[in-house]
Amino acid sequence: MALLEVKDLAVTFATASGPVYAVSNVNFSVERGEALGIVGESGSGKSVTVKSLMNLLPSTATITGSATYDGLDMFNLASSRRKHFYGVDVAMVFQNPMTSLNPVKRIGVQLTEGMRYHRNLSKSAAKSRALELLDMVRIPDSAKRFSQYPHELSGGMRQRVVIAMALANDPALLIADEPTTALDVTVQRDILDLLDGLRRDLDMALVLITHDLGVVRDRTDDIVVMYGGRVMESASTAELFANTIHPYSRALRRSIPDMSMPRGTRLDPIPGSPPDLAIAPAACPFAPRCVNVDAICKFSLPELAPDTANSEHLFACFNPHGELNEESI
Ligand SMILES: Nc1ncnc2c1ncn2[C@@H]1O[C@H](COP(=O)(O)OP(=O)(O)O)[C@@H](O)[C@H]1O
Ligand SMILES: [Mg+2]
Repeated sequence: MALLEVKDLAVTFATASGPVYAVSNVNFSVERGEALGIVGESGSGKSVTVKSLMNLLPSTATITGSATYDGLDMFNLASSRRKHFYGVDVAMVFQNPMTSLNPVKRIGVQLTEGMRYHRNLSKSAAKSRALELLDMVRIPDSAKRFSQYPHELSGGMRQRVVIAMALANDPALLIADEPTTALDVTVQRDILDLLDGLRRDLDMALVLITHDLGVVRDRTDDIVVMYGGRVMESASTAELFANTIHPYSRALRRSIPDMSMPRGTRLDPIPGSPPDLAIAPAACPFAPRCVNVDAICKFSLPELAPDTANSEHLFACFNPHGELNEESI
């Protein structure tokens, strides 16, 4: 059984101007100890997807579909189980470390609070565990950092503290939502490599969300590509890069810096803008921007279905290779 299994997830928000179809048709699973990358441009429904799993959506959200953690229905957790579920079984790291840190509390207090609540640790046991965690996320001089305030640390060090907080109760699954987007380019790679190393060392599953396919290329086992709130393509990372089927995934690949590209290579941003999510999905959301668009793409919604050559490689596209013609519609 997969550690996390998401099936037919859809999230609709009620707003003053009508429903917003933020997420639909989302399917994926994560095995124990494995890393899944969720990739897509801003607005593609990545955060809403994981926030639904973390019980972090506002009451205007209606969630359908299912999500199970180790067989447990995440959308209907008993309150006794819920109390020690978030932050213990599943923890999350957000884009901006300051959203997770309290500016007026010392690092040590913030690190030990959750542990003491969930595990009933003594003050001294919690402190030694906190120092161990600070070492684990490679914060030098942990004893000094323990008594400092967040503003005394750099952005990268703050995100390391947030990661340490997330690891405090040994979660089996860590969800990191664009964990480096708010940081200096120079520290982004360090943080991503830290997460990758921790996942391996702690045998923890990781869901890594990014708008940059390059970030997940060497750090994940599987990839889900999202657009307009829907999964466009999913496969193992090796398969996705060896055989990129969906025109959106292809466009994403062309829009990212690739290590093998000569310096100064021009990237192709994807022309056009994301779909209006106030319209119920009835056609391919990528059709207006797609180079392979055909008549059918504009009036019918492609289902996520396996590739004939690889049943583990799913994509939602009528015309992946631009070879559709009048007769085949
Ligand atoms: N609270 C909300 N109310 C209404 N619509 C929302 C809300 N939160 C998110 N959305 C919609 O969901 C879309 C996807 O958001 P999000 O998951 O944050 O995208 P991503 O993380 O991929 O950038 C947003 O563009 C917005 O239209
Ligand atoms: Mg987001």
